[in-house]
Amino acid sequence: MTTYTVTVEPIGSEVSCREDQSVLDACLREGVWLPHACAHGTCGTCKAQVLDGDIDHGDASPYALLDSERDEGRALICVARPRSDLVIEGEADVDEGVTVHQVRDYAGTLRRVEEPADSVRKMLIDLDRPLAFNPGQYVQLRLPTGGTRPYSLASDPAAGRPIELHVKRSPGGAATDGWIFRDLAPGATIALSGPYGRFSFRPARTEPVLLLAGGTGLAPIKSMLTHLAAAGNGGRQVVLYHGVADRDALYEHDWLQRFEREHPWLAYRPALSRGRWQGRTGRVPDLLATDYPRAAGHVAYVCGSPDFVTETMKALMRARLFPRDIYREDFFDAADRAAGKHIVRSPLLGR
Ligand SMILES: Cc1cc2nc3c(=O)[nH]c(=O)nc-3n(C[C@H](O)[C@H](O)[C@H](O)COP(=O)(O)OP(=O)(O)OC[C@H]3O[C@@H](n4cnc5c(N)ncnc54)[C@H](O)[C@@H]3O)c2cc1C
Ligand code: FES
Repeated sequence: MTTYTVTVEPIGSEVSCREDQSVLDACLREGVWLPHACAHGTCGTCKAQVLDGDIDHGDASPYALLDSERDEGRALICVARPRSDLVIEGEADVDEGVTVHQVRDYAGTLRRVEEPADSVRKMLIDLDRPLAFNPGQYVQLRLPTGGTRPYSLASDPAAGRPIELHVKRSPGGAATDGWIFRDLAPGATIALSGPYGRFSFRPARTEPVLLLAGGTGLAPIKSMLTHLAAAGNGGRQVVLYHGVADRDALYEHDWLQRFEREHPWLAYRPALSRGRWQGRTGRVPDLLATDYPRAAGHVAYVCGSPDFVTETMKALMRARLFPRDIYREDFFDAADRAAGKHIVRSPLLGR
């Protein structure tokens, strides 16, 4: 197997990259952090300039990397593989207080699996060694049939093993319908790698916090909450909106009610899109518009389907919150990719 040298400018770091490895993977495994979100050639976050050398663009989405951008020497380094030694230019800066954790491979054993809501599986996985990550980051599960899928870590980074994942079933989906909801049972072995992603709690931001989760978008948000409870929340007030379709889709409700009683800094606001119950009914973006005519002065973390994230971002920006105050994670999948829903070139990009 041929190995090439990738030089990352302007920091000048040199990384070895196999011909079958993505440039991003090689960098993250050697502790050279570069911005990325999906790691599947879909969102465009990892776009970098190739200053010298030949690259294979791999499975880059034509929506995320336009032909004109390829011609200008741009590449999505999460799917691009080297065909010679390379020099690339990327933004290697890391936000204040955020730790860079090297990506590694892990062997896991499924300890327990639960179905806390309609079409949602909660998986507790013991790993062969501790996984260091920032609250909000994700891992890539290796499918038995090949390929990987990203899932956000729901556990507190300091709690060690097991790690916790929340997975929603996608009808006809290779990972969920074809494996996780069909075959996976306690004792199963699971190969994964991580941690990935730039969606993580920013300890240096001391403003009051809005946590906005749609469906299993709750997973990284739960990790942030348990981290704040364990590490101290620095006097921040935290408001969590969890939006789901109906009562059957609401999960972690009892746990969050208990958490709210034990931690007075949290206000928990579950919301159903439809159906009558003792709580609120309505979409999270609409409830935000009612509750926060002005949200300036907050910092927000938004996670869920691309539609949920986009609509929630719009509501926050109408309430005068700037993109620099909003961190987002879009749980897009193959259908979103086919529909080009991931395109985030506007101020709605967030960070
Ligand atoms: C950073 C990140 C973190 C994530 N974290 C989580 C998480 O914590 N929890 C969670 O539940 N999900 C999460 N996701 C989503 C998750 O990774 C998978 O995308 C999801 O589970 C679907 O995987 P799948 O293999 O079952 O479906 P896929 O095979 O990817 O298919 C998804 C859907 O698209 C349809 N489809 C497939 N191909 C096409 C096509 N060409 N055209 C149209 N439709 C098509 C399928 O029928 C299916 O309904 C995350 C995604 C990202 C990017
Ligand atoms: S991180 Fe490379 S396209 Fe999303």
